[in-house]
Amino acid sequence: MTKLIAPSILAADFGNLQRDIEMVNKSAADWFHLDIMDGVFVPNISYGMPVMETIKKHAEKPLDVHLMIVQPERYIDTFADLGADILTVHYEACTHLHRTLQAIKQAGMKTGVALNPHTNVLLLEDVIKDIDVVLMMSVNPGFGGQKFIENTYKKIIQLKELIIDNEATTKIEVDGGVNNKNIQKLADAGADIFVAGSHVFKSENPLQTIEELNELANS
Ligand code: DX5
Ligand code: ZN
Repeated sequence: MTKLIAPSILAADFGNLQRDIEMVNKSAADWFHLDIMDGVFVPNISYGMPVMETIKKHAEKPLDVHLMIVQPERYIDTFADLGADILTVHYEACTHLHRTLQAIKQAGMKTGVALNPHTNVLLLEDVIKDIDVVLMMSVNPGFGGQKFIENTYKKIIQLKELIIDNEATTKIEVDGGVNNKNIQKLADAGADIFVAGSHVFKSENPLQTIEELNELANS
């Protein structure tokens, strides 16, 4: 399968949001990654519904929404209405994960489950067939621009094994500190989708940076 690139809008210039969205539209990127933080599940507040409406208005590619909020089940229909294509909830934030995944599917979106760096991948065994995308956090969620955690490679390999053993079709997405130095190794370990925030938007030529990431991931 082709490996996908999902630039994280958290690192975009919010004063020039339309410009940055249009840059992603014409780039080699595949998805828009949107980070929603509530200041409770993570120690930061990002952006919410009005900003997402603006993104939806201009974006011409799927919206990959990463909810870093407590009780995410309360907002499933809201994000479906806002135009999310993939809705990712944190394993650590869900008491009834199975029920939440069914509700996301019911609302017409693809299901995603994010794992914090400390969460063991084997905990997903009993729901793996219900998950379209596992979002492997390679930093502690809450902020862009953090250092990649090396233990992630091991977790991706374990997760890939779990997916194969259960004959699931789940894709593996990596989020946090992804750059042109580690993307190839992550792809070799079994990752399919790559979120990149600072590395893309803080670079001199974001279009070219996305192109480079895409080539490295697919080489
Ligand atoms: C962190 C977010 C990430 C973040 C990635 O909590 O989930 O998506 O925007 O940013 P970089 O690529 O800068 O680590
Ligand atoms: Zn994210």
